[in-house]
Amino acid sequence: MSETIDQVEEQAKLKLDTLRTPEELASFRIAYLGKKGKLAALMEKIKTLPIEEKREFGGRVNQLKNYLEKSFEAKSELLHRVQKKPEFFDETLPAIYPRLGRLHPITQTIREISQIFERLGFDVVDGPEIETEYYNFTALNIPLDHPSRDAFDTFYTEGGQLLRSQTSTVQIRVMQTKKPPLRIIAPGRVYRPDTVDASHSFMFHQIEGLMVDDKTTFSDLKGVLHLFLRELFGSEVKIRFRPHFFPFTEPSVEVDLRWGSRGWLEILGAGSVDPNVFDAVGYNSKQVQGFAFGLGVERIAMLRHGIEDIRLFYENDIRFLRQF
Ligand code: PHE
Repeated sequence: MSETIDQVEEQAKLKLDTLRTPEELASFRIAYLGKKGKLAALMEKIKTLPIEEKREFGGRVNQLKNYLEKSFEAKSELLHRVQKKPEFFDETLPAIYPRLGRLHPITQTIREISQIFERLGFDVVDGPEIETEYYNFTALNIPLDHPSRDAFDTFYTEGGQLLRSQTSTVQIRVMQTKKPPLRIIAPGRVYRPDTVDASHSFMFHQIEGLMVDDKTTFSDLKGVLHLFLRELFGSEVKIRFRPHFFPFTEPSVEVDLRWGSRGWLEILGAGSVDPNVFDAVGYNSKQVQGFAFGLGVERIAMLRHGIEDIRLFYENDIRFLRQF
């Protein structure tokens, strides 16, 4: 007889552990605690027992009954709480990670390029974005009738100032306040009234470099730029120097980069600083020489990351930005 109590007890305990839904709870209650349930059956049995066994058997059935009722109550309460969704904690869900910010790909590119030049002894300097014609053109040996001075190519402000169209302005400002030897790079925003499309923007970033001392030559320029481009694009990089014209450098070149199936891509402008620029800042153009170069940051970031549309940099779309 008491074996049956043991059996009921064992089955009931196992079953209790598996209960998950209101339906399972209900069927457990019916099967064990209900009027026709297993406990009721054990109770029934008490009547049929001889007096000597009634007491002990009855006591045990009662104990089991109390135990199962309490456990069932606790289990129902637990499941009930779990069913109320907001308080339900599912520890198997993936963790919620805090969103980490990161640097904009243009900032990253500027920093990377700056670090390469810093290792070569260049200082990073800054200058104003609202400039005068003098710094943006005149001191840079750009004649009054040069097309870049045209309102179609430069934003002018009402007070006769302009938004710089190149960071070469910073060269002039630094040379006015410092004597050679000089090694600087000037990263920053520049503005040109270009129609916005996949490769043009009315605002973009440049990095301008300048080195001046008593015997900086064109071959120093070639060496520095080659080293820089190898650092940035890898030691296999193929470049070529193509003759060009800039008012502020003489001789001038454009540097092209070999880019797989796309052939040669223009990547920067450079040259030996024109003596007229040295004269404009009060350097003795017979005693100093130097080189300058300028590059577009977006161009480089687009090449390195395979980005096809410059507008992606400015749209603030987190899905784009978080890839870098
Ligand atoms: N300032 C030139 C440009 O914006 C680039 C450049 C800089 C060329 C320095 C030569 C020397 O296109």
